[in-house]
Parts: sequence; structure tokens; C-alpha cells
Amino acid sequence: MSELKTHYQDKTVLLTGHTGFKGSWMAEWLVSMGARVVGVSLEPESEPALFDQLKLRDRLEHHVQDIRDAAKVADIVKSARPDVVFHLAAQPLVRYSYERPIETFDTNVMGTVHVLDALRGLGKPCEVVVVTTDKCYENLEVDRPYVEEDPMGGYDPYSSSKGACELIVSSYRRSFFHPDDFGKSHQIALASARAGNVIGGGDWALDRIVPDCMRTLSNGAPIPVRNPVATRPWQHVLEPLGGYLLLGMKLSEDQTSERWKSICSGFNFGPDPESNRSVRALVEEVLKSWPGEWIDQSDPNALHEAGLLNLAIEKANRLLGWRPVWNFESAIEGTVAWYNAVLDKNADALDATRKQITAYTELFGK
Ligand SMILES: NC(=O)c1ccc[n+]([C@@H]2O[C@H](COP(=O)([O-])OP(=O)(O)OC[C@H]3O[C@@H](n4cnc5c(N)ncnc54)[C@H](O)[C@@H]3O)[C@@H](O)[C@H]2O)c1
Repeated sequence: MSELKTHYQDKTVLLTGHTGFKGSWMAEWLVSMGARVVGVSLEPESEPALFDQLKLRDRLEHHVQDIRDAAKVADIVKSARPDVVFHLAAQPLVRYSYERPIETFDTNVMGTVHVLDALRGLGKPCEVVVVTTDKCYENLEVDRPYVEEDPMGGYDPYSSSKGACELIVSSYRRSFFHPDDFGKSHQIALASARAGNVIGGGDWALDRIVPDCMRTLSNGAPIPVRNPVATRPWQHVLEPLGGYLLLGMKLSEDQTSERWKSICSGFNFGPDPESNRSVRALVEEVLKSWPGEWIDQSDPNALHEAGLLNLAIEKANRLLGWRPVWNFESAIEGTVAWYNAVLDKNADALDATRKQITAYTELFGK
């Protein structure tokens, strides 16, 4: 989509979480469009890390900074003077959040407060997209998609920390960045984005199904599946990232119009309903591209994780013109192809990533 490139070229974009899985793809996409990216994160944790595989350290402004430190976050915002902010930094794992609830709430809740508060003194126009998750909704375990107006909630610490982020975004928007006061008391256009379970090359996190598949298959072992019946809205990582970029762009258009005011809000970026599949279906689809086996490791005493979860995406379609590009099969095929190239054929991760961004962008918005 050429409008995105025209829009982001030469923009200063503050990207938190730029060393993570989604953040590295986002940084690569932004850099490829000619944006000046100022990243704020911890050092990458996984080995390997997509951030290093893409050699992003040398191609953006890399700040290793804990977002739990409000003063340091404010210093970076002040010196970067961003045109756009994408806030992705978080502790994103459900099971880890049961082990480290304080760290999870501190990073996800207070970290978000620190980023938003730093923007109060910015004194220039800035579009801000805070990334939460489909798990921010109070999960009723019902077979209907969640709409943006559904109540926030969350059973485990991760999910509820993201529900809390949504409430914080809403509070900052009403208290400090009210759309009705734009251009008077502030110049911040603030929205939030809720995406489903993303898959794609370069995710090396522990405890996620696709990296687990790739690690075990490349070792010739069966894939351990701990929750085969849980359904998730699977989507390729480029799908929500395209949504975030589009949302950031739309937040800068026709500011003060009624349409713009309704865009200063929360958006779901999920897949088409046919991509709401079980973990088992995902694993079986992976095995079509990379033959192997899986074993059921369901544990009746496992910590609680959401069973049924899917998102309604009419709002993003209606107000932003966003819709998913790749279906379930293409998302998995692309993901397996990325790992296959990098792990098996020793191909360059940067090349594999760039090719997928180009292929995706050609279809995006059509
Ligand atoms: N991966 C998914 O399926 C998924 C689904 C929905 C929403 N999300 C959300 O997308 C965002 C990115 O997720 P991801 O999968 O790329 O996670 P990730 O773990 O790969 O990356 C997390 C990023 O946050 C940074 N970070 C963590 N704690 C920090 C701290 N205290 N200070 C500064 N930076 C810190 C890390 O350094 C890293 O850059 C998160 O907000 C997550 O909740 C992810």
C-alpha cells in the first residue's frame, strides 16, 4: 500500500518493544518505508533473536530502557519528539504472568502509564497507538466474537493487565487527550489496538505454539501440545501490524471531524472467522508443510487459559478500510516457509522477512 509509505517516510516513530517478535517486524517495515525509528525496549531475550537476525541495531535508534522508569521514558520522548508512537513493549506471556504477576502488572500497566504521561508535555502533534490484545476482554467462553464495546476483564495477570491498559488509554484520552480538545489543550490522537494470536517467522519465544513446533520439528521430535482444543484467532504477524500502521495514519487525517473522533478509540484486528481454529488444527496445518508428529500433553491441572476467543473486525473495516489479507492456510504456509528457509536452508532472515513484507504490502488494502 503506497499511501503507508508516503505517510511514514521521514516520520519519527517511537516504537516500544522494538526488540521483540512483533516489534522487530514492525521496525523492519517502518525502516523499509523510510521512517526514522526510535526504539525503546530491553535487550532481546531469545537466542536467536529476530531483532539481531534483521541487523536492526545498526538501522534505527536503539534505546535499551526499562519502561518501568517513568523519568527515563519521559527523557527519551522529550528528545525524540515523535510524530507517531506505537507502544508494544510488554510482558506478553500468560503462563509467565502467573509466575511473575508484579513484574507483569508493573511493565504492562505502569509502563503504559509512563509512556502516555510522557506525551502530555510533548507540545506537538502526535498519533499514538497502544497495543493490547484480544485477551483484554472479559472472557465469557461464549462462541461469539468480541466487539470493541464489550467489557474489559481478564482472568490471568497478563490478560487483566491488558484490560487495565485499555482502561488507562480510555482515561488518558478522556482526561488529557480528549478528541474535542484537540488543537486546543493538546495535539495527541490516541487509539488502542487489540489483536489475536500472531504467528510468523522469527518468533523464538518459549511457551508459544509456533516456536515450539519449529524447534521440535527441526530436531526431528514430536510437537508437544498442551491445549489442543483451545481455539484462537490465528493471524500472520503482518496483519495486525498493517492495522496498527493504518490506524496511525488515519489518526492524522481530518482531525476534529466526527469520523476522526470515532477513530480515537479501540480497534480489533483479528482474522476472518474461518481462521478461528483450534491449536490442534494449527499444528495439523503446520505438519502439511513440515511433516512430523504431535503429542497431546493436555494437563487437567494446568493453569487457566482462555478456551474460546475470537474478535469481530467490522469496526476496523468500516472506519479504517482494514481487512485481513492472508487466510489461515497462507499465514501458516508463509510462517513455515520462513523458518524452513532460515533453519533448514540457512537462508538470510533479513531477506526472508523483506520478501514477505513486500508480498504482503502488494495485497494490503486491495
Ligand atoms: N505475540 C502475540 O501473539 C500477541 C498477541 C496479542 C497481543 N500481543 C501484544 O503485542 C506486543 C508485542 O508482543 P510480542 O509477541 O512481540 O512480545 P515479545 O516478548 O517478543 O516482545 C516484547 C517486547 O517488550 C519489551 N519489554 C518487555 N518488558 C519491558 C520493559 N520492562 N521495559 C521495556 N521494554 C520491555 C521487550 O524488550 C520486547 O522488545 C505486546 O504488547 C503483546 O502483549 C502479542
